[in-house]
Parts: sequence; C-alpha cells; structure tokens
Amino acid sequence: MRSLRGKTAVVTGAASGIGRALAHRLAREGMRLVLADVDRRALAQLSRELPGAMAVRTDVSRMADVEALADEAYARFGAVHLLCNNAGIAAYGRVWEVPLARWRRVVAVNLWGVIHGCLAFLPRMIAQRGPAHVVNTASMAGLVTPPLGGPYSASKHAVVAVSEALAQDLAGQGSAVGVSVLCP
Ligand SMILES: NC(=O)c1ccc[n+]([C@@H]2O[C@H](COP(=O)([O-])OP(=O)(O)OC[C@H]3O[C@@H](n4cnc5c(N)ncnc54)[C@H](O)[C@@H]3O)[C@@H](O)[C@H]2O)c1
Repeated sequence: MRSLRGKTAVVTGAASGIGRALAHRLAREGMRLVLADVDRRALAQLSRELPGAMAVRTDVSRMADVEALADEAYARFGAVHLLCNNAGIAAYGRVWEVPLARWRRVVAVNLWGVIHGCLAFLPRMIAQRGPAHVVNTASMAGLVTPPLGGPYSASKHAVVAVSEALAQDLAGQGSAVGVSVLCP
C-alpha cells in the first residue's frame, strides 16, 4: 500500500506508547483514524488531541468488542486499509511463579487480541479488493527468549507465527492485503 492519505486506519492500544505515536503519525499522513483502547480515560484524552478521529472503547481480549469495533469502523468509513493490532501487556517472572490469571490475561490480550483482530477485520479487508495492510505488534521477545519473560515471550512468539501464517495465506490467494510484524 503506497499512499495513506484519505485511507482508514484502525489502531488498537492507541491511547499510550507506540499506539499513540502511531495514531499521531498516521493522522499527519492524512489517514482517517479509528482508535481503540481498553482505557476509557486515556482514549478520551487522545480524542482531544486528534479531534477528527473516531474512538471506540475496546478490550481486544473480547471477540465481541473487536467485532463491534470492526462494525463501527465499516459503518463509518466503509473500508479499513490499515489494521494495527498493537495492544499488548507485559508479564514477567519465572514460568511456574507467574499466577495463572496473569498467564491467561497476557495470552488473552497479546495473542487472542491479534487473532480477534484478524477474524473481525480480514474477511472485510479482503473483500474490499484493494491494497490494504495488517501490522501486528510482536516484540524482540517474539524472536528470542530472555529469562523471566515466559508469558510475554510465549505470546509474542505466537504473534510472529500468526503473522507469518497470515502473510502466506494471503499471498497464496493473490490477495492485495499485506502483512507486517513489528518487533520493537
Ligand atoms: N515499548 C516497548 O519497548 C515495546 C517493545 C516490544 C514490544 N512492545 C509491544 O508494543 C505494543 C505497545 O506497547 P507500548 O509500550 O506502547 O505499551 P503501553 O502500555 O504504553 O500502551 C499499550 C496500550 O494498550 C492498551 N491496552 C492494554 N490492554 C488492552 C486491551 N485488552 N484491549 C485494548 N487495549 C489494551 C493500554 O491501555 C495502553 O493504552 C505492545 O503490544 C507491546 O507488547 C513494546
């Protein structure tokens, strides 16, 4: 996808850090923005910074939330050209010492969040039949495995695998939808 101006981007985890920086940069590129985050207050603050953007409170670990996000984005803009599955959380500790609830939450947000984004948006992005792109945020921890980072590394390795599979599946269909996996 060469030109961004006038096209629509969806960014999850948009209210802080990398997502917030992406949102500001994509706004400067002239994109129409759909900003999603679980943190309502931070999302409201970002909306004040980017008044033209649409903000949708979304917990990416919940498929119903991500479906609703896709429905709202398509209802408002009719197409999505750039999907940034960026929301993620960290969890560190020895594999056997990280509480079960924390393991589940990290996988739910970091991995299931990306899967939910793919399931909710890709059928419609493919059906648009024009150039579009998916950017999944993994991490260096999706390529190497440092100590004390079991849950995070496991989730991010899986995000790399999903992204590689997705890229091959789309290319195999001759789709105009491209895929990148971001490994900060
Ligand atoms: N910052 C880094 O150095 C770094 C390095 C490698 C990878 N990453 C990855 O980059 C992405 C962004 O990280 P960041 O550093 O900007 O983090 P951040 O904590 O600054 O921002 C993450 C945003 O995601 C939101 N979020 C958390 N859970 C969510 C959920 N269930 N649904 C929707 N939104 C949710 C948070 O409210 C927050 O606004 C993450 O996937 C992270 O794992 C970051």
